[in-house]
Amino acid sequence: MFDIEKIRQDFPFLRQTIHGKPVVFLDTAASAQKPQVVIDAVTESYTNNYANVHRGVYTLSDQATEKYEGARKTVQKFIHATYFEEVIFTKGTTEAINLVAFSLLDTLFQPGDEILLTEMEHHANIVPWQLIAKRKQLTIKYIPVTDEGELMLDKLPSLVTKKTKMLALTHCSNVLGTINPVKAIIQTVKELCPDIAVLVDGAQSVVHQRIDVVELDCDFFVFSAHKLYGTTGTGVLYAKKKWHEMMMPYQGGGDMIKEVSLQETIFADAPYKFEAGTPDIIGVIGLAKAIEYISAIDILSLQNHEQQLLDKATQMLKTIPGLKILGESKHKASVITFIIEGFHANDLGMLLDLSGVCVRTGHHCAQPLMTRFGVKSTVRASFGIYNTLSDADKLVSALNKAIKMLA
Ligand SMILES: Cc1ncc(COP(=O)(O)O)c(C=O)c1O
Repeated sequence: MFDIEKIRQDFPFLRQTIHGKPVVFLDTAASAQKPQVVIDAVTESYTNNYANVHRGVYTLSDQATEKYEGARKTVQKFIHATYFEEVIFTKGTTEAINLVAFSLLDTLFQPGDEILLTEMEHHANIVPWQLIAKRKQLTIKYIPVTDEGELMLDKLPSLVTKKTKMLALTHCSNVLGTINPVKAIIQTVKELCPDIAVLVDGAQSVVHQRIDVVELDCDFFVFSAHKLYGTTGTGVLYAKKKWHEMMMPYQGGGDMIKEVSLQETIFADAPYKFEAGTPDIIGVIGLAKAIEYISAIDILSLQNHEQQLLDKATQMLKTIPGLKILGESKHKASVITFIIEGFHANDLGMLLDLSGVCVRTGHHCAQPLMTRFGVKSTVRASFGIYNTLSDADKLVSALNKAIKMLA
């Protein structure tokens, strides 16, 4: 059973009011609120178990190292990676994608090679590839998106060539909510081009479904802790072991070496060769706690709850004259992006705030997708584990109030 009232008790942010109204937080796709257990784990680690990792011979450092490396095993189990060294800690999804792009720049890519992305990517999965494309004279191609917000997968045979070295695509769009059939896509592209590497951006999907990187058969899978009810500044790169040799260190520094002389460095093995410097120790410990928390919730009940939220909010929003939803895929996460003709998204967002309703407005770091749909700025309501069906009511009544004020 999914006990929403019990879950809401776990999130202290819900006890506050905004402009005198109970907070209705509908911006979880940007960053999720934190349960008390994560806040406590962070506080406890800073209070009693804090020291740098991998360095000391003293008890506190050993304890911190044990927790940090224990967190790696928690992540390994959570995404079903085969080896613990396939889990690399980063600052977030963005850094994880940059790490993959730049570590393979000279070993995977030759001038003239191609990278395949999709039109629905977050800037984090476009800009790093554009940066390396410019350096190495690579061509970027994009899988187009239909009016319903789904990928045009019939185009794959013409888009994947012998020169396609990388397919990098989102598992779930942060704007359209579309959940892409990545397993089938990976199967198809690997049939067309067996050596292709596939990176899956799981920043949005990891929150809504269980991930099995082996079953997906992806080469890289990336996500951020802060969207998974953990803290900011921590992320994960799953990198399949077969790529480790080919990936050059992305940054140099302490903790990623076997030996350094004045002339050269012998690097440590993965994952450490990709984790230069003092990592976000406490963020990683918080991530493990967030994973423990979310894993204890029955995923089918959670998905069922999110589907109800999505269905109810979609139905109610559609009653508002002039409201158009971007993305109506059959396979959708609880993310609804919309425009209302005649009203600016920012004005709506600011008036919603006066009713205690927090939504994101703007381009959501997906300007090419905005261009595809011919819009500049939209409102996005995204639901998390703590939202109730009455939050959907509050969103729609606050919107109606805002429209009246602006009309
Ligand atoms: C689909 C997707 N990819 C990548 C990112 C970037 O994540 P971060 O800013 O945590 O690195 C986001 C953040 O909104 C996202 O939604």
